[in-house]
Amino acid sequence: MLVSLGLLATPSAFGSFAPLSNNTRTSSSKATNHQIAKQLAVNSRRGSQKLLRQIVFPCNSVYGRVSYGSPISAVLIEDSSTMATSEEDTENIGILGVDSALRPFKDHFEYRIKKYVDQRNLFEKYEGGLEEFAKGYLKFGFNREEDGIVYREWAPAAQEAQLIGDFNGWDGSNHKMEKNQFGVWSIKIPDSGGNPAIPHNSRVKFRFKHSDGVWIDRIPAWVKYATVDPNRFGAPYDGVHWDPPPSERYEFKYSHPPKPKAPRIYEAHVGMSSSELRINSYREFADDVLPRIRANNYNTVQLMAVMEHSYYASFGYHVTNFFAVSNRSGTPEDLKYLIDKAHSLDLQVLMDVVHSHASNNVTDGLNGFDVGQSSQDSYFHTGERGYHKLWDSRVFNYGNWEVLRFLLSNLRWWLEEFKFDGFRLDGVTSMLYHHHGINMAFTGNYNEYFSEATDADAVVYLMLANSLIHSILPDATVIAEDVSGMPGLGRPVSEGGIGFDYRLAMAIPDKWIDYLKNKNDEEWSMKDLSCSLTNRRHTEKCISYAESHDQSIVGDKTLAFFLMDKEMYSGMSCLTDASPSVERGIALHKMIHFITMALGGEGYLNFMGNEFGHPEWIDFPREGNGWSYEKCRRQWSLVDTDHLRYKFMNAFDRAMNALDDKFPFLSSTKQIVSSTDEEDKVIVFERGDLVFVFNFHPENTYDGYKVGCDLPGKYRVALDSDAWEFGGLGRVGHDVDHFTSPEGIPGVPETNFNNRPNSFKVLSPARTCVVYYRVEESPEETNDGNLGSVNETLQAESAKQENIEELATVVYQGESLGETNDYDLAGVSAKSPIDGAKQENIEEPASVQGKRIVASKPDDPEQEEKKMEDGTVDD
Ligand SMILES: *[C@@H]1O[C@H](CO)[C@@H](O)[C@H](O)[C@H]1NC(C)=O
Ligand SMILES: *[C@@H]1O[C@H](CO)[C@@H](O)[C@H](O)[C@H]1NC(C)=O
Ligand SMILES: *[C@@H]1O[C@H](CO)[C@@H](O)[C@H](O)[C@H]1NC(C)=O
Ligand SMILES: *[C@@H]1O[C@H](CO)[C@@H](O)[C@H](O)[C@H]1NC(C)=O
Repeated sequence: MLVSLGLLATPSAFGSFAPLSNNTRTSSSKATNHQIAKQLAVNSRRGSQKLLRQIVFPCNSVYGRVSYGSPISAVLIEDSSTMATSEEDTENIGILGVDSALRPFKDHFEYRIKKYVDQRNLFEKYEGGLEEFAKGYLKFGFNREEDGIVYREWAPAAQEAQLIGDFNGWDGSNHKMEKNQFGVWSIKIPDSGGNPAIPHNSRVKFRFKHSDGVWIDRIPAWVKYATVDPNRFGAPYDGVHWDPPPSERYEFKYSHPPKPKAPRIYEAHVGMSSSELRINSYREFADDVLPRIRANNYNTVQLMAVMEHSYYASFGYHVTNFFAVSNRSGTPEDLKYLIDKAHSLDLQVLMDVVHSHASNNVTDGLNGFDVGQSSQDSYFHTGERGYHKLWDSRVFNYGNWEVLRFLLSNLRWWLEEFKFDGFRLDGVTSMLYHHHGINMAFTGNYNEYFSEATDADAVVYLMLANSLIHSILPDATVIAEDVSGMPGLGRPVSEGGIGFDYRLAMAIPDKWIDYLKNKNDEEWSMKDLSCSLTNRRHTEKCISYAESHDQSIVGDKTLAFFLMDKEMYSGMSCLTDASPSVERGIALHKMIHFITMALGGEGYLNFMGNEFGHPEWIDFPREGNGWSYEKCRRQWSLVDTDHLRYKFMNAFDRAMNALDDKFPFLSSTKQIVSSTDEEDKVIVFERGDLVFVFNFHPENTYDGYKVGCDLPGKYRVALDSDAWEFGGLGRVGHDVDHFTSPEGIPGVPETNFNNRPNSFKVLSPARTCVVYYRVEESPEETNDGNLGSVNETLQAESAKQENIEELATVVYQGESLGETNDYDLAGVSAKSPIDGAKQENIEEPASVQGKRIVASKPDDPEQEEKKMEDGTVDD
């Protein structure tokens, strides 16, 4: 929801929005000034200053010191029939064992857990349980019964109510509704002549009289489709009764694809996915764009802007109709076609769901049901609490029974009816705190997370939501857009956590923008970068990204455009030599995306187009730009043109995703940064058993560069950003075997090289990244040669095997933690003796020796021999 952080009070004020991502705003008026400044910057097209969010956790902060303790509490099991009383529940809160620093906040956890349990018990008592409760769409809105259609609407503030629409000529005098004790209005409209009285795809509205005696027409809250007359400027939306006959209903052919080990997410906006100057459709996206996503080896698609939002430029974040598929790109059946097609390609589909707030538009949206009644009788809080100053939108009352029904049912609806595989929940920070994150700088101090400022109703809502989603679809993936990093957000509800599977690592893109805007390449700090990338709670999973939709909305620009700017208009042809700026841009584009993926999280996200370095920025059609679609589309021709350099970035993106398929490193809990050398500008790390070497130096190529590793043996290149196919110079030999040398005295980590028990030497060209994998020795490979050598080899093998087993024990310690969901990405907080890399010890003087191509000196003959085996030496 960063996008609409900057949404202006009225669309007409500027015709569009300006992004804000500074959580430390000191006043909202400042923010407004900033928006204006941004808008001006947009007009001048250059020089805008995006203020950066400040969440600076020092490396080795509490985030690195996570202790593991008591087993997961089984108290809060999902089956509420066996649910213990609240008092007992709080005895054993698993999350307090996961992180002892949470213990001072035991009361807070007890309070929210009790609230959660009480709520579930109430659902059990009155609604047949949480899952039943979340089938509200079978009661509310329009539903077929045996001989007619029943329509129900919760509107306690209404004095009288009618159903109007095409079916009765918009005259409700014969279709008056009745209200029950809970403020629910209903009417049954019998079939006429065996046909439904309200035809499929006909327009309907709820007409009610409020306390002032005024009659108003509103779109039914649970409506499944809403349309607008495109020929009338500023026309209001109408509700549409969507109940296609079987022949027109889309039937799913494919089931949910298996859950990937780690999500590699392609974030997409269907409307702007065409290269033409128009809004693209669900079906065209399915047929034209999904195959691209598949070809680039993503395993998950995340769709923005699915729920109807009458203001297009809100990017889908000002939702007006929560159960309706946005009409701009087609019908509900068309969206089903898209999802089914994705499933046929083994792509999971996540929906960007917005429950953090609602559009304030009264004629088109849910806000129309607020006619000044009390919070208890409304979807929204009254007064300030019900209004989001920065987003100019309405804030839900998550403590209200009917609001819970509406929102929880909404989640179930998208899962059941459309077969989504999970959600990205937007604006979670805004939900978690009464201050919505406005004027807040999160420093990592736990008091900021657990205090009076925490909105317990919202926290409980999110616990209910996550628990519901996972009980309907155990394999669902649910991602929180939270910038605060609240501890426990990504821990199971059964432990007292909030139950998300992942959190978006929102500080990472800001770091890149900061570097690209404010630092020369010489000033890049390897330690700072690796700290920022690994700075997360290692017990909770993150989705990393270098840039999402947020980073390229108007006023900012894509990373590629940051890097290459106007040269993207003239310098992208392969037919001419790349200028230094284009060469640097493409090299860093690959490195930035890849190190973000490899080091930044347990999943990865890319926004549509950025995989190939889409230029410019995103700007929705609005008055200010003459309603232009020029910047609201994706120029696929750029990547499809063979003589343009975009294809290199695309090929690399494809390869880095494929690498994770082949050597699942994203899901690995083993992450060890062994070297961050400020002088060399090199970062060396291991993820899984892969060894990554990133050389950010603008000029220096290092030959025979010694890199630490865990397992001994033979290493080879798994991925090389310098390869020709990725627009590189092909300097690194791919047929070269890199044999390891043991390091230090076994069992004495201090004597190791960068705290790694083994090492090998590589060629590391300037501004490249190369990944090495350990070659599994197979018998065939060692079988040739005479008998004597076989004997030798076998002996050597068995000796090596012992060594490996010894090491493996250590690694497994980490993995067994992983099984209980305890993340031990050893980068910051390694605990095993061998992985005991202390961050302070990383830059050992030894690591500087003999690496620079000019100063390359063999430290001993044996090492030199190994180096000679690295065929790249001679080249
Ligand atoms: C956030 O915005 C405030 C007010 O504009 C500014 O003073 C502060 O420096 C900004 N913080 C960052 C990290 O950019
Ligand atoms: C609500 O949306 C309609 C168009 O759908 C627009 O004409 C109207 O101005 C909007 N109202 C507000 C308050 O934004
Ligand atoms: C949106 O709804 C209108 C009115 O029903 C319809 O004519 C139009 O085709 C729909 N748009 C799309 C893209 O299907
Ligand atoms: C292989 O090594 C063993 C000692 O481990 C030795 O007894 C045997 O003679 C060797 N065989 C050959 C063919 O060299």
